[in-house]
Amino acid sequence: SLMDQFLGRRQTEKKLADYFGNQRCIVVSGNSEEQSKVADAFGEALTEALDLLLPEGNNIIAVMGGTTMAVVAEQLTNLENKQRHNLFVPARGGIGEAVTVQANSISARMAAKANGKHRALYVPEQLSLATYNSLLNEPSIQEVLNLISQANCVIHSIGRALHMAARRKMTEEELVMLKQANAVAESFGYFFNENGEVVYKVPRIGIELKGLANIPIILAIAGGKVKAKAIRAYMKNAPKQTWLITDEAAAKEILKGV
Ligand code: G3H
Repeated sequence: SLMDQFLGRRQTEKKLADYFGNQRCIVVSGNSEEQSKVADAFGEALTEALDLLLPEGNNIIAVMGGTTMAVVAEQLTNLENKQRHNLFVPARGGIGEAVTVQANSISARMAAKANGKHRALYVPEQLSLATYNSLLNEPSIQEVLNLISQANCVIHSIGRALHMAARRKMTEEELVMLKQANAVAESFGYFFNENGEVVYKVPRIGIELKGLANIPIILAIAGGKVKAKAIRAYMKNAPKQTWLITDEAAAKEILKGV
């Protein structure tokens, strides 16, 4: 019955949160790889979570890119009220993705849907160290970076390492290195092995992994059986305040043999 399914999912959520030791897991029914309505349900779960977690006052919400983030952005609804105002910023500069899935576009879209404000971060994708350093000194960029560093909420997805490396057109050398390092997951431009250890970091501007520890609200959204290994790897060392929004297909695969 529907009730059994609901209770079953609540049990899976509890098991998953116990396994990762994180604050909360939300499991949506189905497989987001196969049914687009499952990804839409991620967006609904995200809106509910944000509405619950965002405090009154001025919030700064840093958002990452990717196809999952692009889909959930469309499902956001109003998060503003008299006491609560939200500014959406990209959590980092572009790193080789198509415009529609770049953090800049997604934070603008989320702001529009949630009736919030947004600020863009204009940095090119491929940077030499010299350009990178001079961009960091650019006042308009510094201003946005400063906002990003004050974020009290981060929303991100988790990707498969080699899939992400190929999609972002990383070099052959980098691909070989990632394979040798047994990279399985990618998030925030960092690559992780199965133990959740960082094996590579793409040079880019924006949120650093160690800074996440100080951010009170973190939401990770990723699902599909195909992503199970990546989700497990990233979540192993993820900040404990992270709320994971995933689907049954990924959750079942992660909990197999636990
Ligand atoms: O870092 C993770 C990736 O941005 C996830 O991308 O949602 O397209 O799988 P995706």
